[in-house]
Amino acid sequence: MDFKNVIAHCKEYAFIYQSSEIYDGLAATYDYGPYGVELKNNIKSYWWKSMVQMHENIVGLDASIFMHPKVWKASGHVDAFNDPLIDNKDSKKRYRADQLIEGYCEKIDNKIRKDVEKARKRFGDDFDEGQFRATNQRIIDRQQKIDGILGRMNQSLTDENLEDVKALIEELEIACPASGSKNWTDVRQFNLMFSTQLGNISGEEGKLYLRPETAQGIFVNFLNVQKTSRQKVPFGIAQIGKAFRNEIVARQFIFRMKEFEQMEMQFFVRPGTEMEWYEQWKATRLNWHKALGVPENKLRFHDHEKLAHYANAASDIEFEFPFGFRELEGIHSRTDFDLNQHQELSGKKLQYFDPELNENYVPYVVETSIGCDRMFLAQVSLALQEEEVPDAKGGTSTRTVMKFHPALAPVKCAILPLLKNNEALVKASKDLYNQVKFDVNAQYDEKDAIGKRYRRQDAIGTPFCITVDHQTLEDNTVTIRERDSLDQQRIKMEEVRGIVVEKCSMHSLFE
Ligand code: GAP
Repeated sequence: MDFKNVIAHCKEYAFIYQSSEIYDGLAATYDYGPYGVELKNNIKSYWWKSMVQMHENIVGLDASIFMHPKVWKASGHVDAFNDPLIDNKDSKKRYRADQLIEGYCEKIDNKIRKDVEKARKRFGDDFDEGQFRATNQRIIDRQQKIDGILGRMNQSLTDENLEDVKALIEELEIACPASGSKNWTDVRQFNLMFSTQLGNISGEEGKLYLRPETAQGIFVNFLNVQKTSRQKVPFGIAQIGKAFRNEIVARQFIFRMKEFEQMEMQFFVRPGTEMEWYEQWKATRLNWHKALGVPENKLRFHDHEKLAHYANAASDIEFEFPFGFRELEGIHSRTDFDLNQHQELSGKKLQYFDPELNENYVPYVVETSIGCDRMFLAQVSLALQEEEVPDAKGGTSTRTVMKFHPALAPVKCAILPLLKNNEALVKASKDLYNQVKFDVNAQYDEKDAIGKRYRRQDAIGTPFCITVDHQTLEDNTVTIRERDSLDQQRIKMEEVRGIVVEKCSMHSLFE
């Protein structure tokens, strides 16, 4: 589905609104509406259950957003959590220099993808995309151009050679997307952390940061948790919480926000065993996505060649968003960097006594880190579909449907009396709703013709619609309509609860 349609659908059907919309919005901040918050809670619940409750050796934490300022000095965020920025002197708009260059390459990549799609149509089932990309000269040239540009940019960023990044922008004749002007300032580094001030201490001393990642709350609590929950290495600490980054580029909806939610797990292991755990967590996390029915060709690993100074291995799980493959989750082997840094700056030992080895050490850490909002966007863009379905007159019509996994769907079942002005039907429906609502998020809906109500539920991804009709009053049966197959079955009213609970349970995901 086109990305613009995904965004429009999210607003029209109460998933996501622009923050402060009546004041013309605040860039890169969004609010989750009634169905959005349900979907987001279900994503968090799936993550929490599978990471914490399914693992005896992983426990949860909810650390505060504000932390001692030295935490961010120790972690390296004060000195090195920067983006390269460039301003356009005419439009006064500010951009991330690397993203201007990546945007330029994306346009070339779009041309490649168009050629691939054309060829796919031409060759039909026999089409081999890999072979086509490897042998078509126009594609090879374009790909080489992209690789050359990105290679040079990455090298210059690694070398902190910001002059060359500017030179590249000028050589490629990249213009300001807002004004078309090519009148650029120099590129300079901009720290991404938001800061605020403690009330009782003035100046630098009282400067507080809003956390840019949840991970540090876990690192500084490592010994507290280990000792008080009697965990032995290897063990993990998991956390879901808000993080804040002063992102400059406000494109791509909830993909990149200033305030977002992370679901992170730090797994503490014996030094020397970290690569085994890293591989294991990569596989486990990929399976977590696949269990939801995400097609294999929409997911891929991107192993980092250039590593952050604290990592000895890192990989992204990328998802094919409507605007291309992008990072959805990161799996990082962070060595003992963070714990060592906190030991040094706090002056407190963060060592673990391993009873089996009879020695003390600072554990190594393998981290899995996924943005809840990005997972939301991935699920919404995958679920939203338009399809032709049979209509009541024997023809076909187009329906808009969100095919969420039932365990993630915001509303699990809708209870619909056939007629709203028939007291007996309304009463039977409300009785059923009052039974089901204790176990699942259900909705009672009596407005409009039944077909219109079905479509409304399809549009928010409700897996089951239960219709209460005249036959219900005679034999206590109802029809249950399944969202994807459109199959309708007559079942006993007392079976509804059990069927909906079972089909919408997360049980199958964990198996
Ligand atoms: N503790 C490691 C860490 O924070 P990261 O790659 O910077 O690593 C992890 O972030 C995940 O958080 C990303 O894979 C992405 O899903 C999400 N994320 C990062 N920045 C984001 C932003 N500005 N808006 C939404 N999600 C973001």
